[in-house]
Amino acid sequence: MVCLGNICRSPIAEGVLQHLAKKNGLQWEIDSAGTLPFHIGEPPHPFSCIISKKNGIDISNQTSRLFVKEDFERYDVIFSMAKDVIDDVFKISSTNFDSGKIRLLMDTIYPGEGRDVPDPYYGNEKDYEPVFKMIFNACAAFIEQQTNPANKTN
Ligand code: 4NP
Repeated sequence: MVCLGNICRSPIAEGVLQHLAKKNGLQWEIDSAGTLPFHIGEPPHPFSCIISKKNGIDISNQTSRLFVKEDFERYDVIFSMAKDVIDDVFKISSTNFDSGKIRLLMDTIYPGEGRDVPDPYYGNEKDYEPVFKMIFNACAAFIEQQTNPANKTN
């Protein structure tokens, strides 16, 4: 799960997918990272922690880290929260970039529409509610696609 700061969107996505994978008995390694260095080592944004907690998911132990090109070797799927993040990942990864592994998270529900999870960093607490919902629904759709491939939409 990748976003810009690894403090607002991708920590929620990491927590939600871990939660849903566990619930479905899937032993996946799930992590998140950011493409900007400003928040390395920090916990998720307080509003990301609050909205996750309200939904029964504790993300407060996460720590922001930078996306590295080796992530393309370590992970089978890389979900980007937004198109600008994919541009950054492309620059960071050079020859490791694999367009077959990276996709927009919202493509799991709206394939090919190029939808972003909006960046709530400059918003208020309320802006994190639709962000959480979008991320949750996309992760639930991905789990469904993986566990019941007949429902796969892309
Ligand atoms: P995120 O939000 O990518 O969802 O973690 C942001 C957090 C920090 C910054 C930008 C976006 N920033 O520029 O510091």
